[in-house]
Amino acid sequence: MKLKTSFALAAVAFSVSLSAIAQTPTTLKIGYATTKESHYGVGSTVFCDEVEKGTQGRYKCQHFASSALGGEREMIEAVQIGTLDLVNTSTGPVGNFVPEVKIVDIPFLFRDYDHARKVMDGPIGQDILTKFPSKGLIALGWTENGFRHMTNSKRDIVKPADAAGLKMRTMENKVHMEGYKTFGIQPTPMAFPELFGALQQGTVDGQENPIPVILSSKFAQVQKHLSLTGHVYSPALLLLSPKVWGKLSDADKKVFTEAAKKGSVAQRKKVNDDEANGIAQLEKDGMKVIRTVDGNAFREALKPAYVNYAKEFGADNIKKIQDVR
Ligand code: PAF
Repeated sequence: MKLKTSFALAAVAFSVSLSAIAQTPTTLKIGYATTKESHYGVGSTVFCDEVEKGTQGRYKCQHFASSALGGEREMIEAVQIGTLDLVNTSTGPVGNFVPEVKIVDIPFLFRDYDHARKVMDGPIGQDILTKFPSKGLIALGWTENGFRHMTNSKRDIVKPADAAGLKMRTMENKVHMEGYKTFGIQPTPMAFPELFGALQQGTVDGQENPIPVILSSKFAQVQKHLSLTGHVYSPALLLLSPKVWGKLSDADKKVFTEAAKKGSVAQRKKVNDDEANGIAQLEKDGMKVIRTVDGNAFREALKPAYVNYAKEFGADNIKKIQDVR
């Protein structure tokens, strides 16, 4: 009798410890360049909350905000090899991994946010996402960085001639750099974590980024002039390691994909809010904001670069994007 009871107790203890193991949540590491309160942080938080809810707590996230794990290129590499689970990244360095992405980095390709979001959510954007698995990355969906604007410490920029000669930090992105050269600036590629110091020390005169980045990175402390050039749309992506994807059940894959959609909605909303309220905030923080940028002059200057873009990406493919209404 005594023996029977101790067997029963041992069996209960064994099954309790087994279910404890089964319930131990998997913690996914997610990295992004800006703060947890920024657009990337907001989108990533909604994604992670939805994943946690949809998997009944079996998956949760640990956030590595503010470039804690390095620049975007390094984080993408880490996701590829599986030492990082997720990255919410601009397309800036992504074209070096998945060349089909490069076309969406062409300056003055998109008219406005509606146009850009329609392309990303439509067949063109969705088709680009299918190119990732063969490069060792899973693209859960498009998020958003925003339209990029120029800041600098020297002068107001209204037209390309005002930008001429300025040493401006750019992303490590050849499509951008080729276009920006036609504006007369000296593009200086640099990883984002080095940028604040470079602006502070005057290693570069300026940089270009969307309002949510200029705000959350406190560039008003080191840059006086902000020109609302909106010279290029900066899409972003939520990338997952294939190591994680390969372990998910079909039902969990659906949870992750739906969570990415909700994260994207939240991230885009934060971009909208920062565009609506952030410019006034930057003025309060001491920046001089130029709203009267001559967009036509910038587009005109860019024409020689478009000849090369047409050669590289196909004039038809560029037109297909431009024609989306
Ligand atoms: O300028 C960049 O490198 C990017 O816009 C940033 C700030 C890392 C966000 O994706």
